[in-house]
Amino acid sequence: MPKRVISKVRRWAAGKRAFVVLAAGFGLAWVGLTLFGTTMVYTSTEAFCATSCHEMANNSNMEYIGSSHDRNRTGVRANCVDCHVPHAPIPLYIAKMGALNDLWSHHVTKSVDTREKFEAQRPKMAQRVWTYMKGNDSRECRHCHSPANMDPDKQSPVAVARHEKGKREKLTCVDCHFGLTHHEPRSGPGPQELDVDRSLIPRSAIF
Ligand code: HEC
Ligand code: HEC
Ligand code: HEC
Repeated sequence: MPKRVISKVRRWAAGKRAFVVLAAGFGLAWVGLTLFGTTMVYTSTEAFCATSCHEMANNSNMEYIGSSHDRNRTGVRANCVDCHVPHAPIPLYIAKMGALNDLWSHHVTKSVDTREKFEAQRPKMAQRVWTYMKGNDSRECRHCHSPANMDPDKQSPVAVARHEKGKREKLTCVDCHFGLTHHEPRSGPGPQELDVDRSLIPRSAIF
């Protein structure tokens, strides 16, 4: 049966029709790629991440507004996307698939749709972010902050001393810098207490 169908289609698409089929194929691929690209770009905007659902707008975004990464002396900012969305294509696609979980929780389980529920879930959510960032040696932070370019003469003596210590102890940025843009969870372990497979972190990347 499938063989007969295939040969029927072959006969139908032979000759001049082949061009029509080819053109339609290109057309469909073009529409598909455009839709895919637009979705990727649109879901990576600050407007989408910060305010398109009340879960983020009323919690994470309110906490972020006015924090040092939103408002500072120079006006250079890091928004939700800069810290939470990977820049390399493969990790980006994986992260986008993971975000389907957010859709599920927004529409179906409604697990963080009130302030109380958000606070109750915060330790778990924060631990998830810390584990992720520890696992990739705070890759998103390093997209902007390069330890090699930090001028010790321009940093506070405490910062210089702690950064040396961090290097010796193979700690990563979020081990020490947490609760920077969001409220710190009231319970649960902090990033340094979380066990993460350090072998996932490339040696060359440890600062
Ligand atoms: C898009 C670029 C960008 C990304 C990504 C980024 N930062 Fe920053 N960060 C900045 C800029 C710009 C400043 C300086 C703000 C100022 O002028 O005070 C800053 C300041 C800081 C400071 C000093 C100010 C403070 O509040 O103590 C720390 C610490 C810091 N960042 C840590 C981090 C960590 C940790 C991450 C990852 C979770 C991160 N940054 C991600 C750009 C970025
Ligand atoms: C061992 C803990 C530790 C680690 C690991 C660590 N920091 Fe820090 N960092 C500190 C401390 C402590 C300060 C000083 C805070 C202060 O003076 O209030 C600091 C200060 C800073 C500042 C502000 C510097 C200034 O003088 O204004 C930036 C930016 C910063 N860290 C970024 C990073 C980044 C990016 C990473 C990862 C590559 C990182 N830190 C890793 C502890 C750490
Ligand atoms: C400078 C980097 C940075 C920026 C900018 C940032 N985040 Fe985060 N985010 C983190 C880190 C680090 C954590 C882990 C918890 C912590 O340390 O506060 C986190 C945790 C979270 C969590 C888990 C719940 C919690 O409070 O811990 C959510 C949800 C979240 N971020 C959403 C957002 C949204 C939405 C924005 C933009 C409005 C944003 N983040 C901006 C770094 C950032």
